[in-house]
Amino acid sequence: MLVLPKGVRHIPGCLSPDEQRGLVEDIRSVVTKAPLFTPRMPRTGKEMSVRMTNCGSLGWVTDKERGYRYQATHPVSGAPWPDIPASLMKLWEDYSGYAHPPEACLVNFYEDTAKMGLHQDRDEEDFDAPVLSVSLGDTCLFRIGETTRSGRTVSLKLDSGDVILLGGPGRLCYHGVDRIYPATSALLKNGGRINLTLRRVTKPT
Ligand code: SIN
Ligand code: MN
Repeated sequence: MLVLPKGVRHIPGCLSPDEQRGLVEDIRSVVTKAPLFTPRMPRTGKEMSVRMTNCGSLGWVTDKERGYRYQATHPVSGAPWPDIPASLMKLWEDYSGYAHPPEACLVNFYEDTAKMGLHQDRDEEDFDAPVLSVSLGDTCLFRIGETTRSGRTVSLKLDSGDVILLGGPGRLCYHGVDRIYPATSALLKNGGRINLTLRRVTKPT
């Protein structure tokens, strides 16, 4: 049996096929209002292999000049981010165990060869809320470690409809995506994987 770090929960098949299809429609509508953009790493300006966008009052962005941050507007269009779909707000209510709503939902889109290096989600002020992550589309190989970069890591496959929660002592665990398994899901017409991460950014007053 795979032992996940303390505070990390994996809920396989959390979303039914119908719920997944509904969520894809919701995300299509988000992407129409807030198109995917290619983020760049701080300092080097190197392009990340995922494309991303956000919904919520705040969105996570990164570029060469100003680095990782949350901001209220789309970096290309300058428009406010669209609202977080009701389906995701409900998922947060059901699974986060946190009394306040999420403020940001980062939408990552992975083509067949995209991946994401090991990192912590630590640009938020509030680490009391968990990060809730939803996988849609092709399966990926997800890696999760401890709260130090050199800690032991374990790898698991995330399928469409799976949810991962990083909360409590697992909130700052290193994690990343080593690879996508192309054509493992028929959910997205043109293939690929969508990952949605819901986060609380500011401390509730
Ligand atoms: C992320 O850490 O932002 C994405 C994780 C994932 O794609 O599963
Ligand atoms: Mn992350």
